[in-house]
Amino acid sequence: MIYNKIASIKEQIATIKAESLKDVEDLRIKFLGKKGLVTELFNDFREVPNEMKREVGALVNDLKNQVQEFINAEKERLGNVKVAANKPDLTLQSEPIEIGSRHPISLIKNELYSIFQAIGYKVVEGPEIEDDWHVFSSLNFPPEHPARDMQDTFFIEKNPDILLRTHTSSVQVRAMETSKPPIRVICPGRVFRNEAISARAHCIFHQVEGLYIDKNVSFADLKQTLLYLARELFGADTKIRLRPSFFPFTEPSAEVDVSCKLCGGKGCGVCKYTGWLEVLGCGMVDPNVLRYNNIDPEVYSGFAFGVGVERLAMLKYQVKDLRLYFENDVRFLEQFHGVI
Ligand code: PHE
Repeated sequence: MIYNKIASIKEQIATIKAESLKDVEDLRIKFLGKKGLVTELFNDFREVPNEMKREVGALVNDLKNQVQEFINAEKERLGNVKVAANKPDLTLQSEPIEIGSRHPISLIKNELYSIFQAIGYKVVEGPEIEDDWHVFSSLNFPPEHPARDMQDTFFIEKNPDILLRTHTSSVQVRAMETSKPPIRVICPGRVFRNEAISARAHCIFHQVEGLYIDKNVSFADLKQTLLYLARELFGADTKIRLRPSFFPFTEPSAEVDVSCKLCGGKGCGVCKYTGWLEVLGCGMVDPNVLRYNNIDPEVYSGFAFGVGVERLAMLKYQVKDLRLYFENDVRFLEQFHGVI
């Protein structure tokens, strides 16, 4: 009797094929479950006469192992089939992935960072929402002074002491508050001015301003630093020209032009036939500014300069309309592919 059962189970596992993992589980229950066929054999085993127990016991144990192996093999087979179906087809052609590019403003900023870091300047940042002291008063703008009108400021109506910074000179002030000379910093960031948006002006733009304070810093140091900057940015044969100007926080002050790279100084549409392009404002830090920031102007002197990043990018990449920088049109941005 028990021999027949063993033979029948053997036959079944030799011929059955599971179709799914669910089938395999059903088979496991059918053979090895609590009331399964193999489990029942162990009950039958109790009835087997003692002298045959050895032999039958071995058979039943073998069978149990065999069934277990069969179940395992089926599980593996069907499991693998499923994984295989999910595997990516390596022969398929891949979708082309667009590689991004850096925004031209970031490109110029990064370039300025490395130009100035090479000569020992540190990059520092500060808040965009500022107070009057950091943007104006500490920079020698007296209250009610018309010089404040040079920069069309966004004030907060409820509290005119709070404003959006109009230049990153405010960060230079913060650098003077928190460190002692020698100070050598560049201050990049967004600035805000209440200007009508056009091809040449925007109410948001980026500046990188620089400040150097130490003993014996002279105008010659300023000029040489700016010449170094112009040559690094626009090429070794670039010339610079300084024109007298006015800023409340520098004395003397100057505006700096670089020779037009496009026409080599001969005059063209880009430089409006002058041969020169205006790029930045600069000057020797006014002694009042040093005093306001607890630096003794009898001991220390310094220079400062500020560049408009959009303007530099316009000159460098021949971009005619400032608004393109803010629209994030991929047709514009993808032209900077590959520019590091
Ligand atoms: N802060 C000035 C501006 O925003 C630029 C500047 C900086 C000029 C430092 C002179 C010295 O226009």
